[in-house]
Amino acid sequence: MGAEVKSYEADFAAHFGSRYAVMVSSGSAANLLGIAALVYSGRLKAGDEVIVPAVSWSTTYFPLTQMGLRLRFVDIDPDTLNIDVALLDAAITDATRMVFAVNLLGNPCDYSQLRAICEAHDLILAEDNCESMGASFQEKMCGTFGVFGTFSSFYSHHIATMEGGVVLTDDEELYHFMLSLRAHGWTRDLPKTSQLYSKNPDPFYESYNFILPGFNLRPLEMEAAIGREQIIKLDGLVSQRILNEAYLKEALGGLRGFRRQRPLQQSSWFGFAFIIDPDCDVSRDQVVKQLTNSGIEVRPIVAGNFTRNPVISYLPHSIAAPLTAADDIHKNGFFVGNHGHDMRRELDYFASVMSDVLNGK
Ligand SMILES: Cc1ncc(COP(=O)(O)O)c(C=O)c1O
Repeated sequence: MGAEVKSYEADFAAHFGSRYAVMVSSGSAANLLGIAALVYSGRLKAGDEVIVPAVSWSTTYFPLTQMGLRLRFVDIDPDTLNIDVALLDAAITDATRMVFAVNLLGNPCDYSQLRAICEAHDLILAEDNCESMGASFQEKMCGTFGVFGTFSSFYSHHIATMEGGVVLTDDEELYHFMLSLRAHGWTRDLPKTSQLYSKNPDPFYESYNFILPGFNLRPLEMEAAIGREQIIKLDGLVSQRILNEAYLKEALGGLRGFRRQRPLQQSSWFGFAFIIDPDCDVSRDQVVKQLTNSGIEVRPIVAGNFTRNPVISYLPHSIAAPLTAADDIHKNGFFVGNHGHDMRRELDYFASVMSDVLNGK
């Protein structure tokens, strides 16, 4: 980790209009770093409750429980597939301290409502934006609404550094906590003027000086060098993904038997999610089988209703109210990938296989 990482962080922060960016080894590492910084800076403490959507990736949740926090699951909106903001007020308890919002599959959450609710209840808002680089809400980039926002540049995402992640924040104190926690909890990466720790002017004393129980979440120079080229292309890659979605919508025409994820505002279309209607003659599993047999890779909608994954027995949690919409996508949902290149040929093929299976062919 050196000059390339520093430059990538500067480019990334400038692109999204944030003060600070911290590059790490993955989006999962970004979530761990942001949450750990909130805990070690004293803004959260063990036993505090964090509201999370019932549908997200595993490492949205794990860093929270690994840092001693409790998960409070709230159902998703059946159309946007993001946390259902109408259910939030009723889900807040005396122990609730934070909402960890997730922009699912490219789709922004409703940040005007989320911010208002968090302000009214004095809750921290943070964003897992690992699936939605380039999405925006009211012309503001996702990943910049909360106290921190996280990004992934894993191979299948909007930009790819093979593995890689970033945390954005405008908060200088959190930034300094992250600089130390990212690399062993040492002082070496802190600026001389940091309020977090007053460094000894003799570099010998600060070469191995540990102030926090940190991790090693450092990225590689090579990943950052790739990231610097990729971030230049991000707007074009996202625009192409949006064009691909428009093309798919046309290609599917009046085909019935499913509903699709509804973009709340500008989605960056990570993939294309489908939920088979419960009264459709064909089941989700039949559709998945035919797509797979036709050479089209299919995935569940992230982890479905996350509380139905066996790992839940390890995670201190509560469920605010029945997770009806999450259960629906668990049983009836799937998604296929999008890409930053022109996919007209692939989308025509996909639409024709969908048409065959839904028409019983
Ligand atoms: C919502 C969400 N958060 C976090 C991650 C973790 O990112 P990474 O694969 O870079 O560790 C992912 C991965 O796709 C994700 O979808």
